[in-house]
Amino acid sequence: MLDTHHDFWNQWSQAYRGFSETVEPYRAAQRQLAEGAVAALNENLARKNLSILDVGGGAGNLIRPLLEELARRREHLDGVSYTLTDGAKEMTELALQRLEDLKQRFPKVKFSVLHLDTLAEDFHDNLGSGIADLVICSWNIEYYPTESRRKIIQRLVRLAHPRGVVAFSSSVQLPDDLNIRDVLMPLGQAQVLQALLTGGLGEMKKVISNLKQIAAFGTAMSSRQFPEKPGMMELAELATQTGLESVVTGYHLFGASVMVVARKDEQLPPPLPQSPIAQALVGKPGYEAYPDTATFFSYFGILMQMKKPVSSSIR
Ligand SMILES: C[S@@+](CC[C@H](N)C(=O)[O-])C[C@H]1O[C@@H](n2cnc3c(N)ncnc32)[C@H](O)[C@@H]1O
Repeated sequence: MLDTHHDFWNQWSQAYRGFSETVEPYRAAQRQLAEGAVAALNENLARKNLSILDVGGGAGNLIRPLLEELARRREHLDGVSYTLTDGAKEMTELALQRLEDLKQRFPKVKFSVLHLDTLAEDFHDNLGSGIADLVICSWNIEYYPTESRRKIIQRLVRLAHPRGVVAFSSSVQLPDDLNIRDVLMPLGQAQVLQALLTGGLGEMKKVISNLKQIAAFGTAMSSRQFPEKPGMMELAELATQTGLESVVTGYHLFGASVMVVARKDEQLPPPLPQSPIAQALVGKPGYEAYPDTATFFSYFGILMQMKKPVSSSIR
């Protein structure tokens, strides 16, 4: 059964998809999660049939980085299936549109998109249990009701086969004295200048328009009163409490996000790769260095190393 919560995501689907096209910290976070999850597959990488489930996958922002990472590590993509589920109809429509391009880029992969509410009673009836090598759920659980967080992770765990991998990410609470605006403003300004210098006026306008959408999205989110974000520890604990044997957590700067990659068996997943942005701006694996290092210059320096507009690598 779908509730009005999905109205919000239906309304914001276009804007959310836009973020992934030009906003580098967001893209870096997606890549980091994809790299960590694929690396954790380890011996499962070579399986003849490899199934990936992207739960609450929205407009499909994670599909390309994930499959690109898989293509780097696996000889071919024959036998790979990728299923995306989401509870917001508009999101699934956008994901379907995106498949047109993705099918050309990854012709061997079997894609499906399902309109499913992760919390619905019949969720497992529709999907089954123990069916996926990798279950991934990016930036979802912070938006669901607080009391259902554990249930969601339990569902992700149930979907994975006994030696499968579960990976999820969530934005987390910021320290009291730190405002997300103070962090994102210098990052946004640096990205605008980088776009102008590497891609010209057109590229700069595109970035500005996407940043405006992020700002509007942020305002809409605060007025919608989503639950309080989880803490870093809470996410790691959720993973262990739900029967995930081995857990690795990583931290990303953008909006303060935590990635959790865990295996159901006893094999420890490899450490999560650090994105250059997180590495350079966060001195310690906590928030300590956050306010001082998230400056226009530090961020601009990292972006300029890319030498080309962020959006140029997207089709
Ligand atoms: C911030 S977006 C993230 C989308 C995608 N995973 C990504 O990384 O781009 C949150 C997504 O969670 C989905 N969502 C929220 N509550 C849900 C629920 N109860 N069932 C299914 N999807 C849900 C929304 O529709 C939205 O697409």
